[in-house]
Amino acid sequence: MNQLRQTDSEIAELLALEAQRQTMVLRMIPSENYTSSAVMQATGSCLTNKYSEGYAHRRYYQGQELIDKVEDIAVARARKLFGAEHANVQPYSGSPANMAAYLALVKPGDRVLGMDLAAGGHLTHGAKVSFSGKFYQVRHYGLNPDTQRVDYDQVRRMAKEFQPKMIFTGASSYPRILDFAIFRQIADEVGAFLVADISHISGLCVSGDHPHPLPHADVVTTTTHKLLRGPRGGMILCRASLGPAVDKAVFPGVQGGPHNHITAAIAVALKEADSPEFKEYCHQVVRNAKALAQGLREGGFKLVTGGTDNHLVLMDVTPLGQTGKTLAQTLEKAGIVSNYNKIPFDTRPAEDPSGVRLGTPALTTRGMREGEMARIAQLIATVAREADQPSTLERVRREVIEMCGAFPAPGISVSVVKLFELIIYTKNQLVILKTPRSCRPPVQKFEPEGVKHFRTRSRPLQLNQLKLL
Ligand SMILES: Cc1ncc(COP(=O)(O)O)c(C=O)c1O
Repeated sequence: MNQLRQTDSEIAELLALEAQRQTMVLRMIPSENYTSSAVMQATGSCLTNKYSEGYAHRRYYQGQELIDKVEDIAVARARKLFGAEHANVQPYSGSPANMAAYLALVKPGDRVLGMDLAAGGHLTHGAKVSFSGKFYQVRHYGLNPDTQRVDYDQVRRMAKEFQPKMIFTGASSYPRILDFAIFRQIADEVGAFLVADISHISGLCVSGDHPHPLPHADVVTTTTHKLLRGPRGGMILCRASLGPAVDKAVFPGVQGGPHNHITAAIAVALKEADSPEFKEYCHQVVRNAKALAQGLREGGFKLVTGGTDNHLVLMDVTPLGQTGKTLAQTLEKAGIVSNYNKIPFDTRPAEDPSGVRLGTPALTTRGMREGEMARIAQLIATVAREADQPSTLERVRREVIEMCGAFPAPGISVSVVKLFELIIYTKNQLVILKTPRSCRPPVQKFEPEGVKHFRTRSRPLQLNQLKLL
């Protein structure tokens, strides 16, 4: 950080502030997490300097001896962890991984059946605004209106009528178990490939908290940065016979040179995930999500499907007379960071939908458990009830800061965190209450509009002494 500060103090300060934000708020976006310091170190390593188009031992550039070893290790660990015959660890992220799956299995114009975005699917599962909806003929299955769960009879009916060449399963905002075995049966009945996108739940598939997509799916795609706790990246897993088509689709089909620093960081994350501690972490993620769901129900919230089997809950906030966007914005003022999201059969637009999506992976990484989840659910209910009361938001924000102090965020360097000992975001203002003497010069330089600094000479201010602006 010191060198970055010397070269570019503007970016250095923003990174420091973001590190501080990540430690001082409750991060409840279900697709986010905290990577370990080891993963961060690999991500920030000299491997970013190397070009390596191609695959290990088959490159188009010299100087690959060590890079090949890194990629071999990452591939071997991915295959072992997921029990896959073949693994490709080069996709830059989840969307390019899905693009490569299309390229490997179907031709432009072919028919694809995917899960509707409003039902919880992802853009790359055939949404009109995505390449997938533009280059392929896509139909979408949805949910049973009574249960709000995947309607497998509807999937079967649609598959028989539409005769897709590929069926996509997997979701971004579906709080229940997906039955990959039924999807396999349906795909077999119509002679379609089955792709399982386990971006959100890959950790749970490893820990046994969610059924595994293999051997049911022909191809499995995943991001590496969600529950799996790796760097931002993607992976594709499949049986050996599909390996060459998948590899060709990733490179040269969709991408150029792999991001070797990310490959190394994926390898580290996979090693971390191949442990009893990671499995226990995943079990706790689910226990925490269930505790959160219960607390929210007790707080009067209506949950899509009534609860959760995995790492996320989706709240329908319309009974509160609010929209998802307004509640998510109010929650952030109190230090609780979520995302607004469509709910099944939503009549509101995606820019201001009826739902708020909350997840437990990041908080569980910080060591929080069911007790904290129950309390956070109460705080969320308080904020929703008293959204127009600044004093309530201030009180909740203080409790959130105390909670964050008790559960430090892993992977974020302490020296960075110590830049500001106490910081409060409220009413869209950033209020810094105390900064250590050693860090004052760079901090003083960074004073965007609306930021007020308070400094104390001797001892930190007590939370109850704070007077927010
Ligand atoms: C199910 C699913 N697939 C794919 C993706 C795309 O991942 P990325 O944003 O890394 O491209 C996401 C992202 O949230 C996702 O939830």
